[in-house]
Amino acid sequence: MSPLEYQLSPGRKWTEAEQAQIWKKPLSHQESEEERRVTQEIKRNWHRGEMKIANILLEGDAGSGKTQLAKALSANFGLPYTKVTCFADMDKSDIIGAILPIIPSEALEKMDPVDQSVLQALYESDGFQSATEVMMEALGFPREAAAQKLKQLLKNAADHSGGEAVEYRFYPSEIVRAFRNGYLLEIQEPNVIRDAAVFMALNSALELDGSINLPTEVIRRHPDFIAVITTNRHYAGARPLNEALRDRVQHTEKMDLPAREAMIERAMAKTGYANMQVLEVFAEAIRVLDKTARANAIKGVAGMRSYFYWVDAFAGGASARASLYPKVIYKITTDAEEIRILEEAIRSHGLLEKMDEAELGLKKNGF
Ligand SMILES: Nc1ncnc2c1ncn2[C@@H]1O[C@H](COP(=O)(O)OP(=O)(O)OP(=O)(O)O)[C@@H](O)[C@H]1O
Ligand SMILES: [Mg+2]
Repeated sequence: MSPLEYQLSPGRKWTEAEQAQIWKKPLSHQESEEERRVTQEIKRNWHRGEMKIANILLEGDAGSGKTQLAKALSANFGLPYTKVTCFADMDKSDIIGAILPIIPSEALEKMDPVDQSVLQALYESDGFQSATEVMMEALGFPREAAAQKLKQLLKNAADHSGGEAVEYRFYPSEIVRAFRNGYLLEIQEPNVIRDAAVFMALNSALELDGSINLPTEVIRRHPDFIAVITTNRHYAGARPLNEALRDRVQHTEKMDLPAREAMIERAMAKTGYANMQVLEVFAEAIRVLDKTARANAIKGVAGMRSYFYWVDAFAGGASARASLYPKVIYKITTDAEEIRILEEAIRSHGLLEKMDEAELGLKKNGF
């Protein structure tokens, strides 16, 4: 896709920070059929009012390229990319943001030093990052822990404000920032959320003419806002995506392990390894293992990531058979019975011989 053809709002002025969030395709990026289709669909309907397509669902295998597709859309449309990773205990403040009292400095000094430094970081932030992100940076916490800490901090802060008339400041969530400013937002795995109220908040935000009610104001959906929901197809034990949320989506792509040619192209681009015979045999092995794991309800995945690392290990001098275990099989499972099933599939497809042949071929040619 030519770089400027699909820009949605070519006239928009971005800040430097926003500009930096617009994804640039790396040289290893391979345009997929899905990418072309989604890009064209969104562009085609962009000015068609109620027929506009601005909520996308990418559902499918782990490592199939859902996140990279969301990022590629950011590049194609020229919109900043941002994401929210959902988690089970998410609550409404994770959707809309948090409201924090500004604590007078005398009271602040009496607080726990960690809380103090976090609050300081929050007060000094310009509202460009979400509160959770400020916390992640200040404490070096992962997102979930930071969100939790934020809630605890809110409680502590309320206790320390001592009932005096305090000033409040609102720290919007990543979702709100994307929604208000018109970015492309990847919403990862919303199916894990447990609280129904959180789904309601998400659902209403995803209406095409939606709005979000903040404690301080009501904000409307920016016309450039695009939501890309990415989820793994429900594996055993995972809940399916909320129906109402699913219903808000105007275009869905089923993301599977890519076709063999695409697997090979991506692996070549990523690892720089180019022997076709090896790449083909390895790709076939991954496909066989993927299928076998599914057919036998083995939970792990043999996907693109395993493929890349297996090819790369081989390119680095490891033997095909030996590196198959740490790079692919053990990643799927370490259960002895399941390993036996996977080994049997590899054997019955003649893949061991094919691996040996490919290796031998290389040796003969002096590699
Ligand atoms: N179009 C592409 N061209 C080249 N490489 C790609 C492409 N799509 C994905 N990849 C590579 O494949 C790997 C997995 O991609 P990605 O992270 O997008 O998968 P995912 O479906 O989001 O996985 P998960 O379900 O784990 O979130 C990454 O290393 C990525 O760089
Ligand atoms: Mg992903």
